[in-house]
Amino acid sequence: MLFKQQALLRQKLFVLGSLAIGSLLYLVARVGSLDRLQPLCPIDGRFGPRSQDEIQLRALQFKRGLLHEFRKGNATKEQIRLHNLVQQLPKAIIIGVRKGGTRALLEMLNLHPAVVKASQEIHFFDNDENYAKGIEWYRKKMPFSYPHQITIEKSPAYFITEEVPERIYKMNSSIKLLIIVREPTTRAISDYTQVLEGKERKNKTYYKFEKLAIDPNTCEVNTKYKAVRTSIYTKHLERWLKYFPVEQFHIVDGDRLITEPLPELQLVEKFLNLPPRISQYNLYFNATRGFYCLRFNIVFNKCLAGSKGRIHPEVDTSVITKLRKFFHPFNQKFYQITGRTFNWP
Ligand code: A3P
Repeated sequence: MLFKQQALLRQKLFVLGSLAIGSLLYLVARVGSLDRLQPLCPIDGRFGPRSQDEIQLRALQFKRGLLHEFRKGNATKEQIRLHNLVQQLPKAIIIGVRKGGTRALLEMLNLHPAVVKASQEIHFFDNDENYAKGIEWYRKKMPFSYPHQITIEKSPAYFITEEVPERIYKMNSSIKLLIIVREPTTRAISDYTQVLEGKERKNKTYYKFEKLAIDPNTCEVNTKYKAVRTSIYTKHLERWLKYFPVEQFHIVDGDRLITEPLPELQLVEKFLNLPPRISQYNLYFNATRGFYCLRFNIVFNKCLAGSKGRIHPEVDTSVITKLRKFFHPFNQKFYQITGRTFNWP
């Protein structure tokens, strides 16, 4: 009997001991990974006169979860006061291009400790009804952040909407503008695929891409088709250049962001005058998804939603060739204006 009790006690002690060691190892690993990830934020004077320690601590709190709550708009009045949280107008906007990889870019930039993303597309500047609500309405849509951080929002419709450049200029004429582009024909097919999926979800039939992209009467590219027009990047950019100098734009290669995201993100960090903080550790290739996913720390990582990275329908090669030929001169002009050349066919 005594022997049985002793064995039971030993067993209990063993289980408790394993649990304690397990928890300890977990904590060590987690803190270690956070330290590696951490901003170490030697954020320059631009972000305010905070001490290094304070910045590190705050950034640590951020990515650990506090900010997660704030971002969902869940900051209590007490937290807002305690942490000096503010809702700031964006210092940079991802203005497009739809299906260029705008979501991936925003999420990846959000890995940076000095960046806070507006999760939703706000559609302030392209939607007359929203715009009429005024700039305070827009600011209130922004996530809570520390004053030294920068807020970024993305609404891809901005790039192609006539009124937007002037409206953004009126808000902040020195704002930084990010445009992420993909090879124009692939982008147009991606655009079509999104619409097609929407129709299928509603059990509706839809035209084939070929039928929309090529005018059946002339057999030429149908420039009235929105997916085609959106891919004429230079036409849209020229409208923006009436308000902003070319130096205020940064062009992101959306095709490279898929295959090799880090160098593209490093170029953006530079453009935004941010210290380089996004590292390879933050990005890992997920073979099941076929895309890079995001790693904030050892416990928190995420891939983009399944609606990003759809399988495109097969498109007639003669239509693809025709479209590529059509886009070619516009692409050349785009390279010339932006100073960034792509190997688009
Ligand atoms: P496809 O669905 O055509 O593959 P947007 O966010 O502007 O709508 O762009 C969607 C595109 O982002 C997707 O287009 C996908 O290829 C691309 N993308 C880039 N990086 C990605 C990533 N890490 N995960 C998922 N999609 C990514």
